[in-house]
Amino acid sequence: MPSAKIAVIEGDGIGKEVVPEGVKVVEAAARVFGIDLTWDHLDWGCDHHARLGRMMPENGLDRIAGHDAIFLGAIGWPTVSDVESLWTLLMPIRRNFQQYVNLRPVRLFDGVASPLARPGAIDFYIVRENNEGEYSEVGGRMFPDTDQEMVIQDTVLTRFGCDRVMKFAFELARKRKRRLTSATKSNGIIHTMPFWDERFRAVAGDFPDIATEQYHIDILTAHFVRRPSSFDVVVASNLFGDILSDLGPAVTGTIGIAPSANLNPERRFPSMFEPVHGSAPDIAGKNIANPIGQIWSGAMMLEHLGAKDAAGAIVAAIERVLASGENLTPDMGGNASTTALGQAIADAVSIHP
Ligand code: NAI
Ligand code: MG
Repeated sequence: MPSAKIAVIEGDGIGKEVVPEGVKVVEAAARVFGIDLTWDHLDWGCDHHARLGRMMPENGLDRIAGHDAIFLGAIGWPTVSDVESLWTLLMPIRRNFQQYVNLRPVRLFDGVASPLARPGAIDFYIVRENNEGEYSEVGGRMFPDTDQEMVIQDTVLTRFGCDRVMKFAFELARKRKRRLTSATKSNGIIHTMPFWDERFRAVAGDFPDIATEQYHIDILTAHFVRRPSSFDVVVASNLFGDILSDLGPAVTGTIGIAPSANLNPERRFPSMFEPVHGSAPDIAGKNIANPIGQIWSGAMMLEHLGAKDAAGAIVAAIERVLASGENLTPDMGGNASTTALGQAIADAVSIHP
């Protein structure tokens, strides 16, 4: 990957503060490894909505379909309903670009205090189905504002959709410790979740070398807290994966460091890289947000683009800066600013790649 063109959407709230740090560190790595990156900045989000009445231009997707990747901060601000901001910007990108895998690593770094007494080594991946499932547009409301008011929201699981995300998870497990956990709830949700389990068993047939297990989501959340070090790769539906991927990083100390990749594994469309966290209106504008989730997302982007060395250098720089105990933001118990932590990691990349 000698060159790549990246669409940058800072978005809202702390997105505007952490994305510049992410770009700074990715640029530092690109310089060291001789990669030529073009950053195409797009001012989409809730400010765009305030000015022009929509989160992105009508031809927004066409404008970024030809980019090599999308680097996104966070979307959402109290001036626009979360339903509108999510469904008219993030969801169209994830769905139209067939980013059906949402990949979220969970790692406990040296230097970050975990809320758990003795966490052991925590290092696993959550593979979240990202295109269908519980987050569906199927359903509706009848008899609004009457005593008979009723709502229905349907979960949509397809054989195609389950199989492709499960296959991705099995292949990832094959590159790691060869253990895959499936999140289910087939005792309570009696149509879609037994189907999920059925597809899991069927796909597992093609991967006899991978050890599998499945847990109902309720006890699985307990296992995440009690023995997080026992997981390798966890595959889950859209909703369960969303919940688990806030819990996982929380167990490692803060969601501020957690990255994610929305992947189109076939590479027919650009993939999108964004931190797990949202726009954090409660701390926005104070220069105290943790930029590591964004920076690590940048490393995942470089890896996806084929620049493994540059990606590795960024993760190593994060490790070194965290272990030093200096330049930590308040969510990690320090008092450094967003920009100071971002600069420290950029310097670490440039000085000892
Ligand atoms: P949030 O992730 O923005 O914040 C949750 C809590 O974590 C807050 O107390 C916040 O201060 C803290 N936090 C988050 N990121 C942090 C960081 N980098 N450093 C330090 N502390 C951090 O989730 P919340 O409050 O539920 O949502 C706020 C807005 O963000 C909403 O509009 C929501 O729809 C949107 N959102 C957007 C996402 C996206 O763009 N993918 C994902 C999740 C939420
Ligand atoms: Mg979430």
